[in-house]
Amino acid sequence: GFFVNLDATALLLFIVVFILTADYIKNRRLTGFPPGPPALPIVGNIFTLDHKRTHESMTEVHMRMGQRWVVVLNGFEAVTQALVTQGDSFSDRPSIPLYDDIFHGLGVILSNGHMWKQQRRFALSTLKYFGFGKKSLEPMILEEFTYVAKEISAYKGKPFNPHLIVNNTVANIICLLVFGHRFEYGDEQFKKMMKLFEQSIQIQLYNAFPQLMRCLPGPHQKFKRINEELKDFVRTEVKDHKQKWDPSDLRDFIDYYLNEIQMVTEKSLFTFDEECLIMSVLDLFGAGSETTSTTLRWAFLFMVKYPEIQERVQAEIDSVIGQSRPPSVDDRADLPYTDAVIHEIQRMGNIVPLNLPHVTNRDVHLRGYTIPKGVTIIPNLTSVLFDKREWKTPFTFNPGHFLNEEGKFVKPAAFIPFSAGKRLCLGENLARMELFLFFTSFMQHFTFSMPPGVKPVLDYRFGITLSPVHYEICAKPRHE
Ligand code: HEM
Repeated sequence: GFFVNLDATALLLFIVVFILTADYIKNRRLTGFPPGPPALPIVGNIFTLDHKRTHESMTEVHMRMGQRWVVVLNGFEAVTQALVTQGDSFSDRPSIPLYDDIFHGLGVILSNGHMWKQQRRFALSTLKYFGFGKKSLEPMILEEFTYVAKEISAYKGKPFNPHLIVNNTVANIICLLVFGHRFEYGDEQFKKMMKLFEQSIQIQLYNAFPQLMRCLPGPHQKFKRINEELKDFVRTEVKDHKQKWDPSDLRDFIDYYLNEIQMVTEKSLFTFDEECLIMSVLDLFGAGSETTSTTLRWAFLFMVKYPEIQERVQAEIDSVIGQSRPPSVDDRADLPYTDAVIHEIQRMGNIVPLNLPHVTNRDVHLRGYTIPKGVTIIPNLTSVLFDKREWKTPFTFNPGHFLNEEGKFVKPAAFIPFSAGKRLCLGENLARMELFLFFTSFMQHFTFSMPPGVKPVLDYRFGITLSPVHYEICAKPRHE
């Protein structure tokens, strides 16, 4: 018995030493690598991060998440040198196991290479066509505002939680774009879809140990189920579009995509098919809905926190637009203060704090460091939007950041909430149009304040996006 025990202990010890040595050799720090905190074997720095404040605690420039090397780029210069000046080396996405299992590298956000180029180009040109071409989105956004205004007016200035209402409003713009129709806010299918999106959460552990986690139960399995349901939802819309499809009248993104599939000539390099269509549609929802609605929810909070700024915005809108007509994108140039406030909301709201991850697709030299191919890159947007060298008062809400001495609107180069370079947010123009039209419409019609006796709290929940913690607000109609 004694010898068996000794053998078992020795074997165990041998295995542990072997794993630790292999881990050490595999993850040896390369010469020329940027500095970083010491990492534990196997798990690296996963547990040294303060999860609630991840984007703030990242002052070091490299770390190891499980078996994955990560370099965090901090500050305007480092981020733009990588994404813009050396953009070709930094334009790929790393593999993220949980998402790979669901999206299979299809669509725009998570794809690479030929697939990414074709899908991105197609989405961009279709968005341009619907957003700014023949079927401009401007009237659709203004019409959607009338629905949300009605909904909010019904509270008659009493406190309400704007979260769901604003989510619905913004999601409907994507619905109009991809499905060609909007939903009533009370529609059961719509409510179900919105709930599914709300439940889409990120699971760290899965991505650190995918082989193991794939077989285990846990929240990631629910995440997969939710995404399968979302795919089914889009699949139904696609089926419907195919039945009513008319090449002489392409109504929306799905119609255009079906048209593209029809036009296939050279099969081998052609990435358009129905599975990929479904992923692209989910990409537009995933990236285009929550982001814009979160920004608007920050906007309300900042306006109640700084009532004098809200008043000044309203005064500018009253004098330029008045009350008898809705705002138009052409008004932007005449509303420099309002424009500056919207930009400052985006800067302080900082809603995609760590950007989306990139990966080096070759060995690169950056700012005196050597970063090998295959290293995950986090171009930290927080560090740019609050960079002390770029902003006069980085931690204060100050529309003056976007105004020159004559009160004209100016945009500093460090304003990059949509990121920069080849992966630049594909929906930037649409988002800017929505933020401008919705925000000015809200300011034209309502004055926001906290419920009596409640102070505004600018606290947030950290995830892929930073969203304000749930709050209630009062919206008093300005005119009957
Ligand atoms: C990517 C921000 C709205 C579609 C991104 C990225 C950021 C971002 C930071 C990552 C860029 C990178 O990896 O370097 C925002 C913000 C928005 C917004 C702050 C609103 C305030 C939208 C909208 C849409 C959209 C309305 C679409 C309708 C996309 C897509 C990507 C993306 C498809 C992936 C691009 C690619 O990988 O090539 N966005 N976004 N976004 N965004 Fe947005």
